[in-house]
Formats: sequence, structure tokens, C-alpha cells
Amino acid sequence: MRSFADAEVSVRITVFLGAPGSGKGTQAKMLSQRERFVHLSTGDILRNAIKEGTALGKEAKTFMDKGELVPDSTMIGLIKDTLSQLKPNQHVILDGFPRTVAQAEALNTNSDTHVDQAILFEIADSLLIERLTGRRVCKQCGQPFHTKHIRPKQDGVCDQCGGEVVQRSDDHEDVVRRRLEIFHAQNKGLVDYYAKKQNLRRINVDQPADSVQQILMELLK
Ligand code: AP5
Repeated sequence: MRSFADAEVSVRITVFLGAPGSGKGTQAKMLSQRERFVHLSTGDILRNAIKEGTALGKEAKTFMDKGELVPDSTMIGLIKDTLSQLKPNQHVILDGFPRTVAQAEALNTNSDTHVDQAILFEIADSLLIERLTGRRVCKQCGQPFHTKHIRPKQDGVCDQCGGEVVQRSDDHEDVVRRRLEIFHAQNKGLVDYYAKKQNLRRINVDQPADSVQQILMELLK
């Protein structure tokens, strides 16, 4: 079996852990725009599947609209398949996976990939409601904006690709509250899992996106 010691065959993974709205997607996109990182977001993959009307999209939509997690069996199959298509030596920022200990274990036993570190984005829930209900995203490329903090240069138009900027269907307050409940129910197990492996880092993300980015650049050197 190939191992991480055989560096040229392994895909390196940095996992972003954190509540909905903590800024995982914003930071991963900033990193992949300026450096060599590949940004993989399970939320984006599922939203694309919904847009394309695939069987995966139809299954995922029933869970996502209610703020529930898509079953582990579906997500583990999806991520293994996605990771198997990457080239050796790529450095992936995994945003939105794992979300349960079962998913973390599946990632850990995946051949040809190695989790370098898990970075936990820490912030109070009270700030997340405002971030999420005010979030707007580009329909085309997924670039996140915010009605107050990170506005596109032209209202309703994405700075990156010119696509239409809209509100996500799971960013209404009742669904946001359910997503936060689920996050808290799962997160402690995940944090303990990576703490035991001694590759957990924590960042306070209640600061401007550029400052968070600087800290991440240091951690990812
Ligand atoms: P997913 O798309 O992964 O959503 P999430 O984890 O709930 O995270 P978000 O995308 O909401 O938040 P984020 O941390 O990326 O924040 P962002 O950068 O956008 O998952 C959606 C659904 O898919 C799940 O509910 C589930 O159903 C399903 N799913 C996905 N993966 C799954 C899995 N592995 N297993 C099972 N189900 C799965 O920022 C938020 C807002 O804040 C933006 O407006 C942004 O502009 C703003 N902002 C960002 N940083 C700052 C800052 N520093 N200061 C001020 N504002 C900021």
C-alpha cells in the first residue's frame, strides 16, 4: 500500500472545520485564487448536482432545504470519488467535509490522501446568524459576498465572473438556526478526533477576512 512517506503519490489535505458562516468558503476561495491550493467544497458539489438535476442532487435537496446533513454513506462515496480524480502532490483545502466522525474516519483511511492538519474556525453563534442571513453568493462561481461586510463592486453582480449574486435557499433564519444546532451536535466529536491526532489548529475568525487570510497563510506554509 502507498503511504504519505511516498510523497509524490499523495494528495495533501487541509481540512477546514467550523460552523456555517464562519468563513470557510470565503477563505478557501481567497487561498485558491492567490496560491496553488485546490478548493473542494462539498456544499458547492451538492448545489451543482441540484442545479443539474442529478440523482445525487435530488437526494441532497431534501436534506439541504431543511438544514439537515446528507447521509454519511452518500457523502463518503462522493468525496472518495472526487479525491480519486485529483493529481498526486496537489494540496486540497477541504471545506465542508468531514462533518461527522464517521466521515473523518473514512477520510483517514482513504488511500493516496493524507490530512496534514484540521483548522477550526472559532466564532460566537450570535455573529453567525447575521453573517448567514446577510450572505449573498454568485449563482455561477459560488463567490460569497455579504450585504454589509463584503459587497460586490456593482450591486447583484459578481466581481469574479460577472454572474448574478443571489441569496442561498438555506440562508433563511429558521434553516440557519437548524444548521447551527446540527453543527454543535457533531463538532465536539470531530474536534476531539483531530485533537487526539495532534493535528488540530484553532483560529479566532471574529476579525476581518484579510486578517484571517494572513493567519492561514502562515499555518499553511
Ligand atoms: P455548506 O455549503 O458546506 O455550508 P456550511 O458548512 O453550512 O457553511 P457555509 O457555506 O454556510 O459557511 P462558510 O463557513 O463557508 O461561510 P462563508 O465563507 O460563506 O453545506 C450546505 C449543506 O450541504 C449542509 O447544510 C448539508 O445539508 C450539506 N452538506 C455539505 N457537506 C456535507 C457533508 N460533508 N455531510 C453531510 N451534508 C453535507 O461566509 C459566510 C458569510 O460571512 C458570507 O457572506 C461572507 O461574505 C461573510 N464573511 C466571511 N468572512 C467574514 C469575515 N471575516 N468578516 C465578516 N464577514 C465575513
